[in-house]
Amino acid sequence: MNDPIIPNVAHSSHAVLQPLSSLHTFGLMANCFQYQTIDTIDSLVMLLPKLQFKPFILLGDGSNTVFTQDYEGLVLKNQLHGIHVSQDEDNYHLNVASGENWHDLVCYCMAQKIYGLENLALIPGTVGACPIQNIGAYGVEIERFIHSVEFLDINTGLMGHFTNRECAFAYRDSRFKRDTDNPKVITSVNFVLPKQHQLVTSYGPLAELVDPSPENIFDKVVEIRTSKLPDPAIIGNAGSFFKNPTVAREQFVQLQKAYPNIPHFSAPEGKVKIPAAWMIDQLGYKGKSIGGIGCHEHQALVLVNHGNGTGEELLALAREIRDNVQSTYGIELENEVRVMGRKSAVIL
Ligand code: EPU
Repeated sequence: MNDPIIPNVAHSSHAVLQPLSSLHTFGLMANCFQYQTIDTIDSLVMLLPKLQFKPFILLGDGSNTVFTQDYEGLVLKNQLHGIHVSQDEDNYHLNVASGENWHDLVCYCMAQKIYGLENLALIPGTVGACPIQNIGAYGVEIERFIHSVEFLDINTGLMGHFTNRECAFAYRDSRFKRDTDNPKVITSVNFVLPKQHQLVTSYGPLAELVDPSPENIFDKVVEIRTSKLPDPAIIGNAGSFFKNPTVAREQFVQLQKAYPNIPHFSAPEGKVKIPAAWMIDQLGYKGKSIGGIGCHEHQALVLVNHGNGTGEELLALAREIRDNVQSTYGIELENEVRVMGRKSAVIL
């Protein structure tokens, strides 16, 4: 069901509005009514009474959240920092605070010759966001290195942790995303990175590396991402806007008859994953805009803010794309980014 766009109302003279445009990489103009930074777990615990009764949202670098309207709840900005490394004979063990920047962690590991994260270079966002959506790129998903995730359970007010299995990771998904009735604020992530590290070069351009090493995989991933994906510091965006859908094999066979060149990848449970970017591209959206919001000229899956875009325009373009993909391919696209409305996440 669509969340209607409610025009901004005049706010009481007592309300202090915090602009959100610089707090999310899509950069839409929106405000929130309450804003707080979190520097320590204690400061988070102090806020529990508020968090238990008010809508709130925790922001890391704001790279996977888009504010389409003013947000009425409390926005918390994660500034929990710290990286602790230990090792045994076989593995490095990292405990990393959730407010650390993801790419900085990848660079830190590369400098220490701790390998495994190189395929995930340059993914925007914080360490705390990485388990929520099980970040992935170029053949690697972070679930393979997560040992456990530590959090504050908002309902009980207690610290807790989930093991890798308890996180119930799936493609761009985890228990943290699904279990919205039991909100948890992730405080740190424990990673295990094997010393006997296997390089992953299955993704097209990486397979072309003549003498693959963690360093040249890192360099190649940085090169591909910089050439294809827009830099949020230059043009507002939140990475892939939609998830890549999976369909039953029978449905794929029918689609392939109609579209013999359709790219596809095998997915769990015998399903087939189809790149949403290809369908959106085929429908002619690449480089197209509605007002200030467009479909990126080099990667059709990325919607961008040309600087003056509005929440209404973003929802209009996203819904138009979703409807066209549905009517042409019979496939329902799901958004990958968290799209926020006035009180809660918007379902496209
Ligand atoms: N394609 C097109 N047109 C385009 C872009 C791609 O037809 O404009 C086709 C290509 O032919 C290619 C296929 O779509 O065969 C897949 O494209 P690409 O390799 O660029 O990856 P993607 O499926 O669009 C996913 C992730 C990205 C990640 C890349 C690389 C999702 C939702 N997105 O994109 O992650 O970087 O693979 O592994 O799974 C993100 O999550 O924000 C993100 C950028």
